[in-house]
Amino acid sequence: MPLVTSTEMFKKAYEGGYAIGAFNVNNMETIQGIVEAGKECNSPLILQVSAGARKYANPVYLKHLVEAAVETTGLPIVLHLDHGADFEACKAAVDDGFTSVMIDASHHAFNENIEITKKVVAYAHDRGVVVEAELGQLAGIEDAVNVKAEDACFTHPDEVYEFTTKTGIDSLAIAIGTSHGAYKFKPGQKPQLRFDILEEVGKRLPGFPIVLHGASSVPQDQVAIINQYGGKMPDAIGIPEDMLRKAATMAVCKINIDSDLRVACTAAIRKHMFENPSHFDPRQYLGDARAAVKALVKHKIVDVLGSNDKA
Ligand code: G3H
Ligand code: 13P
Ligand code: ZN
Repeated sequence: MPLVTSTEMFKKAYEGGYAIGAFNVNNMETIQGIVEAGKECNSPLILQVSAGARKYANPVYLKHLVEAAVETTGLPIVLHLDHGADFEACKAAVDDGFTSVMIDASHHAFNENIEITKKVVAYAHDRGVVVEAELGQLAGIEDAVNVKAEDACFTHPDEVYEFTTKTGIDSLAIAIGTSHGAYKFKPGQKPQLRFDILEEVGKRLPGFPIVLHGASSVPQDQVAIINQYGGKMPDAIGIPEDMLRKAATMAVCKINIDSDLRVACTAAIRKHMFENPSHFDPRQYLGDARAAVKALVKHKIVDVLGSNDKA
């Protein structure tokens, strides 16, 4: 099976009350860990590449690694551009064979966001590629934008119908209180998501797939391992997994996870190096990192997303 778009995946996910995990990839071990988990759980997958990942790994390497993942697993896999900054970035991904792109023009004014997004949709749809766009702004740092918590803003349900119909997008990322990175809520702060906004968006766009960015949960046991073995991660609070599970039963069909993969990799490598100070073969500690990614993704698929046995 070749790379697929997310159209069928989202339709089934919406109807079935589950979500597809969109995992950020930068290197071979991460890709292998994710798809081994997907294979064992028989789950569809979205592998997403940021501009930073393209710069780090070279898009040609990533494309071929993802194609190898498709070939070895036979799973339905989407290759998605995460946070495309402008038309040129999205065009490059479409031309490189990505099957899905995100245009992130959410920091522009509403009408400008529509115009930029429309142009990407026209180019992508002509070539069989699907498009995600965003309304509202999440706090945190990613390639396209660096948004301070005080500048983040929730999605206005009043805008979603006009935006989706005028742009022709295939899925919509909304801001309901998630944020990018490992530090989403301050220690002592109670994590909260605006499920009222998600519910209202669902009513305005019946059957339409919604995307949640910034959905890592930052497992405390992994942070504890990092700090136990010489790391210095401040207390980090992510999105509680029961909230993500609830969102997946609503209109959310795609849940983006990057920071949790980073934390799992780092914890495994720190532990390995501490326990085996004489090791110098990267296959030994990267092998542990790959196994940690696999365990994390299996947990997400089965306990959070509910996408097991849906491939
Ligand atoms: O939302 C952004 C992703 O976590 C990608 O992060 O820009 O550091 O590759 P990155
Ligand atoms: P996290 O930083 O919460 O993993 O979010 C990743 C993301 O939204 C990628 O687009
Ligand atoms: Zn994101």
